[in-house]
Amino acid sequence: MFELENVSVSTILSIRHLMIKEGDVTCFVGESGGGKTTILKLLNKALSPDGGKVFFRGEALEDINSVMHRRKVLYLNQTPHIFSGTIRDNLIKGFELQNRAYPNHETLMAVLKRVSLKKNLDDEAAVLSGGEKQRLALARLMLLDGEVYLMDEPSSALDDAMELKIIDMIVRFVKEEGKTLVMVTHSKAIASKFSDKIYQVKSGKIEEVSSNES
Ligand SMILES: Nc1ncnc2c1ncn2[C@@H]1O[C@H](COP(=O)(O)OP(=O)(O)O)[C@@H](O)[C@H]1O
Ligand SMILES: [Mg+2]
Repeated sequence: MFELENVSVSTILSIRHLMIKEGDVTCFVGESGGGKTTILKLLNKALSPDGGKVFFRGEALEDINSVMHRRKVLYLNQTPHIFSGTIRDNLIKGFELQNRAYPNHETLMAVLKRVSLKKNLDDEAAVLSGGEKQRLALARLMLLDGEVYLMDEPSSALDDAMELKIIDMIVRFVKEEGKTLVMVTHSKAIASKFSDKIYQVKSGKIEEVSSNES
């Protein structure tokens, strides 16, 4: 689904070759500052490489319209942005920006349940805790029904039990719906439990550490 060829970003990242398969759960692990977030930004076209090429389904990203690309390839930021207003306002934000019909009440309630957020749609989003905001941003992204989900430490603000529950839910969601997940995680335990492939990122270089594929 993605292929990186001789990609470099300043002195931050240098990747000779990397393939990310459609339908896979791919995890990037490794020390802080290694370049994990930079890789996700490349895949989302939030950043262009200084050298080399990134391909999406065989087409160079530089030839793909950025807005169209980001409708298919959804990106959950390490510290997700929360919009002013209510939880409902936040959930429908993407639909508003894309001029799409809003999901109905049941759909909104169902997604809150999936992310284990026990709040009302009319509650103010600003007063949520860090972990609740992270799950609200996740719910917003899930509603948008992308083809690829890029998630940067989606469980960093959650305690261990909630982390396991949420990652398990995300992985079931992407597998059931035939989507592709690329996730950065600090947790090697999470990575080895859920991924098809794990890459270690260190000083801008990547190394495959495990593959559960036959
Ligand atoms: N916009 C930028 N300009 C210059 N350096 C950057 C920029 N963004 C990230 N970096 C540097 O690139 C390296 C990799 O960053 P990042 O991809 O965020 O790492 P990780 O997500 O693995 O912690 C770090 O040394 C960071 O300081
Ligand atoms: Mg990062």
